[in-house]
Amino acid sequence: MEEQKQAKQRILSGIQPTGVFTLGNYMGAIVNWEQMQEDYDCAYFIADLHSLTVRQEPAELRKHTIEAFALLLACGIDPEKSLVFVQSHVHTHAEMGWVLCCSALMGELGRMTQFKDKSAKHADNINAGLFTYPVLMAGDILLYQADYVPVGQDQRQHLEFTRDLAERFNHFYGNVFKIPDGYYPKAGAKVMSLQDPTSKMSKSDPNPNSFISILDDRPVILNKFKRAVTDSEAEIVYREGKDGINNLITIYSVMTGKSIPEVEKEFEGQGYGTFKMAVGESVADRLQPIRDEFNRLVGEKKYLEELMAVGADRAYRISRRTLEKAKKKVGLLLP
Ligand code: TYM
Repeated sequence: MEEQKQAKQRILSGIQPTGVFTLGNYMGAIVNWEQMQEDYDCAYFIADLHSLTVRQEPAELRKHTIEAFALLLACGIDPEKSLVFVQSHVHTHAEMGWVLCCSALMGELGRMTQFKDKSAKHADNINAGLFTYPVLMAGDILLYQADYVPVGQDQRQHLEFTRDLAERFNHFYGNVFKIPDGYYPKAGAKVMSLQDPTSKMSKSDPNPNSFISILDDRPVILNKFKRAVTDSEAEIVYREGKDGINNLITIYSVMTGKSIPEVEKEFEGQGYGTFKMAVGESVADRLQPIRDEFNRLVGEKKYLEELMAVGADRAYRISRRTLEKAKKKVGLLLP
């Protein structure tokens, strides 16, 4: 008897195009995105609508969007295997966001730590989009009936919110959305700043020594690791209270595929200086081919635009089905 072919589970995730991706974005999300392409039906997108929640220089945002798209491909996201698109090219996202906004509660949105953090950081521009940001994100995910959403630790609360919102909507209007699960890497779900290892590595950090951009070249990478903040002991072990060293061990472990005990053993009795250089080298080795591929791709604007158009078209056809179902359920008359 012929074996029945099982449909693959769906993966969806997005990344904002505000600046070059960091090593945190890479380890927390993109490494998983690349690996999951083999076994899942994957959709990845540049979340440019989300970036509007913070004031942007329009020409820069356009430039960063195309660069972010090229960077995703350079990181190994293969448009032959995965659906890749730009969020604002697919209008179902904004539309789904509105329908879902009417089921989201002010109280739960006000509890989001990202909203609180960003409101504090941009006190002169606490716009409504910043507040409803998680609803737009929920729409991104639910439109594609995603099973798993590979993200870093900082998105966990938004994922929980998405699940709550989907359950509430399904409860009131009937079954429309699949309830998605977050998918977090075992190591690297929260890569820390090299200058303050108690806070997350972030591309919006004003101190460029605190983060590695995945387009930094080898001397810059080595220099940033050389300056990385550690502690006053001289022991390369993963232990509570050693935030700086724990972060470096994690980075080295992900870059080389070695386990944490293996890393501890390799550097037993060695100084922090030697260790930091080894971590820097491992990162530089890993990022070198990405930088080369990015430099090649970014000159191919026409090719990138063609891929974006194909991606947008496919994304629209998939997401439209869920949007129409949701609109019908809430009582909107379909044209
Ligand atoms: P964004 O653009 O801030 O980050 C993209 C991904 O990188 C992860 N990340 C990290 N992981 C580990 N350590 C770090 N220091 C670190 N910094 C960032 C993030 O967790 C994320 O997975 N709201 C999202 C974009 C988005 C989205 C979506 C994601 C919009 N719609 C739907 C998933 C599904 C964001 O701003 O990610």
